[in-house]
Amino acid sequence: MDVVPQLVADKDGRLALEADGVTLRGDFARLLPRLRPQNLHRELLVRAARVRGVPSPVAVDATAGLGEDALLLAAAGFSVVLFERDEKVAALLRDALQRALQDARLSEIAGRMQLVEEDAVTGLKHLEMKPDVVYLDPMFPARRKDAATNKKLQMLRMLERPCTEEGAEALLSAALDAGPRKVVVKRPLKGPYLGGLRPSNSLAGKVVRYDILTVHEGLSHKE
Ligand SMILES: C[S@@+](CC[C@H](N)C(=O)[O-])C[C@H]1O[C@@H](n2cnc3c(N)ncnc32)[C@H](O)[C@@H]1O
Repeated sequence: MDVVPQLVADKDGRLALEADGVTLRGDFARLLPRLRPQNLHRELLVRAARVRGVPSPVAVDATAGLGEDALLLAAAGFSVVLFERDEKVAALLRDALQRALQDARLSEIAGRMQLVEEDAVTGLKHLEMKPDVVYLDPMFPARRKDAATNKKLQMLRMLERPCTEEGAEALLSAALDAGPRKVVVKRPLKGPYLGGLRPSNSLAGKVVRYDILTVHEGLSHKE
């Protein structure tokens, strides 16, 4: 039988998801070392998302999860709209954001992050502005190594199956239709392109790759 993660609150009211001996919380303070300017500008996601000549860039993180990637973008100066459709994950993220707003080290960054608890395929259609960047990090298929080493992935996989071909295409179409300058997609290092669409450029790390689709007129996921 599948284990269903449960939301629990500790004595300080801090939320966690618990299942099968695994506990998961949203915790932005853990990422503080990566937010230092000298480290931040080495982050592949920040390099992939960078837009030149825009003083206050706007990003949409269409698959926010626990908001860690969105935090990196916000620390790099983006205003970020975060879409998360799973209500339990969204509850952890909301909790982490509220705590970050009360933490002097994180409040300015968290002030640039706006959570929308909705499916991004719908939400991207109703944006009030054109974002500069749309970021997609849909669930990869599991690798044997992940389950043992990464609690976050282990828990997220109890809540969500890997993104299907149709799900990927719907996300990519919605991202492109929102009219950004670029779409950045996180993929497993050797994984196929999302929706089969060849990126303009990729930045590869040890485990993941960021595919960058520079948007020009006529680019669609069917290209
Ligand atoms: C791999 S996790 C993202 C991790 C995230 N980048 C981070 O830094 O924590 C994928 C998340 O995207 C969410 N998701 C997937 N498809 C979505 C959609 N169409 N709209 C909104 N959220 C979605 C899932 O519920 C899951 O929490």
